[in-house]
Amino acid sequence: MPTAERVTASLNTYRALPKVELHRHLEGSLRLDTMVDIARQHGITIPADVLRLSTLVQIQEEDKYTFENFLAKFNTLRLFYRSPDAIHRITREAIEDAAKDNVRYMELRFTPVALSRAERFPLHDVVDWVITSTKEASEKHGVIVRLIASMNRHESTELAEQVVWLAVEHLEDGLVAIDLAGNEAEFKTEPFYGVVKEARQSGLHVTIHAGEWGPATNVKEAIEQLGAERIGHGVRVLEDEDVVALARERGTAFEVCMTSNYQSGVIGSLDTHPLMKMLEAGLNVTINTDDPSISRITLSHEYYTACEDLRMTQTILRERIVAAANACFLPEDEKEELVTKLYKDLKL
Ligand code: ADE
Ligand code: ZN
Repeated sequence: MPTAERVTASLNTYRALPKVELHRHLEGSLRLDTMVDIARQHGITIPADVLRLSTLVQIQEEDKYTFENFLAKFNTLRLFYRSPDAIHRITREAIEDAAKDNVRYMELRFTPVALSRAERFPLHDVVDWVITSTKEASEKHGVIVRLIASMNRHESTELAEQVVWLAVEHLEDGLVAIDLAGNEAEFKTEPFYGVVKEARQSGLHVTIHAGEWGPATNVKEAIEQLGAERIGHGVRVLEDEDVVALARERGTAFEVCMTSNYQSGVIGSLDTHPLMKMLEAGLNVTINTDDPSISRITLSHEYYTACEDLRMTQTILRERIVAAANACFLPEDEKEELVTKLYKDLKL
């Protein structure tokens, strides 16, 4: 392990880089202090000290690193979406935190069904609230933000339909894509073929969590059956050469989230993460956080891990930042502008 001093020095180097985030969940980006405030305002019973609260909503060293434990944190987090103000604040702060980490472009995904559940808010209100605060905070902090609506595999297709209709209605408001997330290990994708097709045909982009807690064939299914342009995680793609070839030929972008993979039991240790093998196999790899507050990381930490633990070179890291920009869901002209600016700022 590097010394503390080296970590600090090095982290600052990564903090200074302009960044692109393609895979971050709003529900996994909640500040602990904010949870305490919301709990007080709404009479939610939580442990008296912040450290105990942390055990419920953030990964601890002593936790069992399994996807069940990882997903369990989201169930506790659902308690905090108690008012329009709470949802506005959570959204604004997620964008402020990204700006502080020098993220220039972010696709923030949120799960309308999760945000609406605690107080039975109508889905369309929740979507409106997130869109409004995203616009406000992205202007205030100078980060370009686009939204992705996530649906969970372990929830009903009827709810997924409603989410897609709402997303289609808000395409012009920066809600540009849909995502299928949740429990990939125990729930099938097939029931969602129809609703994802509808989304695609209506002009929404598609990214799918696949090959994370499920096999490489799930990546193939996401590309061929769901028309996924990008894959969330997808690290298990390496288990099947044919699927690697398919993703390489299509130029499918992989939204890799190393710390999340470690903490949710996909890999045994961070230094055995297959990121570099994916790159060597010619796959279009990008580096992302997934759930920064649950994992207690920033995107700078993930860049640090890639270079310091996995020996990615600084030049390749910079190329991967541009690759993420090239894989983003902006219209071509706006994408070109972003890419050109990054080339310049990254001195490529
Ligand atoms: N929802 C939030 N994080 C997730 C992950 N890593 N995989 C699937 N669903 C998720
Ligand atoms: Zn995710």
